[in-house]
Formats: sequence, structure tokens, C-alpha cells
Amino acid sequence: MAQRRSSPSKSKAKAAGTAKASPKAERVAHGEAIPHEGEVASRGQWGSRIGFILAAMGSAIGFGSIARFPMNVANNGGAVFVILYGAIMLLVGVPMMIAEFSLGRSAQSNTVGVFKRLTGNPKTGWRGVGVLYFLIAAFFLSWYAVVSGWMLRAGFASITGSYFDDPGTFFGDVLEGGDALVWHFAVLLLTGIVVVRGISAGIEKLNLFLMPTLFLIIVGLAVYAFFLDNAFQGYAFYLNPDFSAISLAVVTAAVGQAFFSLSLAEGAMMTYASYLPKEASLATNALSISISTLVFATISGFMIFPMLAAFDLLGGGQAGLALILGPLPQAFAGMGMPIGNIVGSFFFFGTFFAAFTSAVSLTEPAIAFIAEEYGIARRKAAIFVVLAIYTAGIIPAFSQEVLNVEGGAITDMLVMVGGLLLAIFVGWVLPKRQAMDQMDSGKGLRLGWYVYPIVRFVMPAVLSVLLFFIFAGTPCVLTGLDAAGNEVANQGLLEQWFGLGLTGCDPPPAAGA
Ligand code: PHE
Repeated sequence: MAQRRSSPSKSKAKAAGTAKASPKAERVAHGEAIPHEGEVASRGQWGSRIGFILAAMGSAIGFGSIARFPMNVANNGGAVFVILYGAIMLLVGVPMMIAEFSLGRSAQSNTVGVFKRLTGNPKTGWRGVGVLYFLIAAFFLSWYAVVSGWMLRAGFASITGSYFDDPGTFFGDVLEGGDALVWHFAVLLLTGIVVVRGISAGIEKLNLFLMPTLFLIIVGLAVYAFFLDNAFQGYAFYLNPDFSAISLAVVTAAVGQAFFSLSLAEGAMMTYASYLPKEASLATNALSISISTLVFATISGFMIFPMLAAFDLLGGGQAGLALILGPLPQAFAGMGMPIGNIVGSFFFFGTFFAAFTSAVSLTEPAIAFIAEEYGIARRKAAIFVVLAIYTAGIIPAFSQEVLNVEGGAITDMLVMVGGLLLAIFVGWVLPKRQAMDQMDSGKGLRLGWYVYPIVRFVMPAVLSVLLFFIFAGTPCVLTGLDAAGNEVANQGLLEQWFGLGLTGCDPPPAAGA
């Protein structure tokens, strides 16, 4: 409706939402009534197509690709998981990304403005969902920045080799408390320095420089790792195909991994896409971004596992971050001076770069909202947002227990809720013509015919089931057995928080039994 090209002046008025309803002063005060073209000039835009792609890749590639993905692969059937994840990413990740991009790009607005514009109703209840998106992103960053700070800390410690004697004790000491807080602050300070500069001069420049650098680092380290003793044992551990490992729980893990690693449903991708020109093809962009993310993630495994194999540190059950700060520093220590210092600093600074570009994308939804909806200068909005996120991160910086809950179940839940609302809005609230037009306008590949039914029918079903599992726990019949033959109890929030056991699992065997 709003995006039909046939009658530009009429559609502009409708798209602006408030055009008919409110006087000019109010429209200006809300920063929403300026016609699209004028507004595009006053809000930032990407300077180049590659700038946008690299920034969105920067958002996508983070801990999810460097730590979570390789470990998910090793624990869930090796190459079989890579194929499964690749398929899920293409079948549902790319469509969700196109859907999310389509909202930001067609409305050219922050997450709240998106819903006002696209419904044509400035008072729509969907504004609440727009608020939810930037709050989820800001919340996400409050713990993500703490973890990013650990990487920065570990990078400097690698230069001096200060953990080489006893990595376990060293990292045990720095992960929470004053130390963690200082590095958390450092991360947000750096983030602030980038985001106050705006889209093209700040975020785009950063990614133009950091993403190729990150690529060189991980490829360089993977090549180095190839020459280590037992490298092939590492590859075998990583990619050994095990079809019997596939279960519904593994499929669930792959969907979760796809959402997390593609930065979906947090408003970050929506906001980045709002700085895209109308001619850009969303499908081409979404495919390039997703495939590059998969490539980065896969190479990351080629870097990590041979290093672990060389020092006899391969083992099952290491989850993402436990891997990065557990056995890997031991491997760097094992390499000794000066190789260990060099490899360790490249690894940790590289991981920090990956996380930093994700962190930057997580501030943008709130900044755009404040700047546009309240007409506040971007610089001020950016400083406010960064300070607020810093403050929210003080608690997880002091308590790993809180951080684990925030970064685990709560984040998973919010992402699923965000995804469900996105699917409902695009699939059920927008008229079909409008949704399709928004996804398909621009030159290049058009996938609306495929994306629309997926977003309308498949995603609401899949995400509702996953949300149910998050609350009620994954039923034991679906989760299978661990290495020792015990049922794996994947507890839901209701059980963790209120002791309501709904999974039907056997209680874990008594200690020593
Ligand atoms: N994709 C990032 C990662 O893999 C996390 C992220 C999610 C960043 C959502 C931004 C928005 O680490």
C-alpha cells in the first residue's frame, strides 16, 4: 500500500502515516513527517553497497560464528551439522533476514517508525514491538559487551604472556568483578567513538577496515594451524560426519544458531537496512551476508580444532565461551614464547574485532529511535545509549551467574519472541501485496514468492514450538542420551526458576552412582 510506485505523492502522504492526522509542528517534532526522500538525506545512508554488506556481516559474525558454531558442529554430528545448519540458514534464516530487511528498508526509519509507517497508523499498537526490538538489542549488548571485554583483556594478556603459567587461574580472576567492568567500559567507549560518527563515517568505515582484517586473521591462523602436529586429528574431531547424532534437539540447536549468528530479530538488521537505498536487492544482500557468515564460521573451526589437537585438548561438551577461555589459552601457552604470544594475540584481538562490529550494530536501533522519534541530535542519543548499556552491564560484569542466564535462556527467549512477532507482522498484518513489494523492490534477485509463505506459515509454527521448549524444557524423548547413556535433561525456564519439571526426564543419577 504505502510503497506502490504508481502514485508517488499519494503514497508518500500515506507512508508518512501522520500526514493527514496531525499538524505540521507535531509531525516535525516526531521527526516522522518529512517525506522519504528528504528524510533519507537527513538520516544517514550507507556510502556503498559493499559498505552495507560488510556492516551486516560485521553484525552477524561474532561469538556465534567464532565460538558457538564450531563447538555446535563438534558436539552435534560434525559435517552433518554443517550441512544441516547450512540448509536451515538458507531455508529459514535467509527468508527471515529478507523479511527483517524489508521492514527497515521500505520504512527508512527506526524500529518504532517502521511500524507506524508500514501500518499507516501513527498510534498502532505495533509501536510496542518496535520498542521491544531496540530494548532487546540494548539488553543483548549489556552482557555481550562484558564478554567482548574479556577478549580485549585476553588479547593484551597474550602480548605479555601473562596467563601462560596458569591460564585457568588467570581467566578465573578476570571474568568477573572490577577487572571485567573496566574492560566492559572500554568496549562501550570504543563503540561510542564509532557510533557518534554516524552511519557512513563511523559504522561503515569501521567495518570496511575490520572485516577484511578479521578475515585475514582467521585464514592466517587456520593456515598456521594446518602445519601443527596432529592437525588432521583436529579436522576429524570437527567434521567427522555422524548421522546418528541428528535429533530434533540438534535441529532446534541449528535454528537457534541460525538466528543468533545471523543477528536476526533484534532490530539490528532492520535498522541497518533502513539506511539502504530503495534500489538495493534485499535477497541478493541477504544471501551474500548469510553465506559469508557460514564461510567465516566454518574457517573458524579449521583454525580452532587443529590447535586443540596439537596440545591434546580436544574434548566433547565444551560450549562456546568455555572453549575460548578454557582450552584455547592452554594451547597458546603450550606454543610458548613468542609463537604463543603472537597466535594468542591475533586470535583474541580477532575475536574482539568480530564481537566489536556486532556490538556496534546492537546500539544502532536505540540510537536511531531516540534521535528520530525525539528529534535529538544523533551524537547525544549515541552517548546516552552507550552509557545506559554500560550501566545495565554492571551486574553481569560482577556476576557470571547473571551473565549466563542473561546470555543464555533470556536471550534465546527474546530472540524467539522477536522472530515470532516479525513473522506475524510480515505474514499476517501487512497485506500480501505490500509485504511482497517491500521484499522484492530493487534490482536483482527476488525471492518474495518463497519468503512470504515461509514467513507466514512455517516460521510462526517453528518459533512457537521452540519458545514452548524454552519455557517447558525440551522433552526428553527428543533430546537423546549423553555420552554416559543418561537422558539429557534440557531444562526449561519454568523448571530452572520455579522447579516445575515438565520434561519427563529421569532425574539425574545421584552423585557417585
Ligand atoms: N550475530 C552475533 C554473533 O554471532 C550476535 C548478534 C545477534 C549481534 C543479534 C547483533 C544482533 O555473535
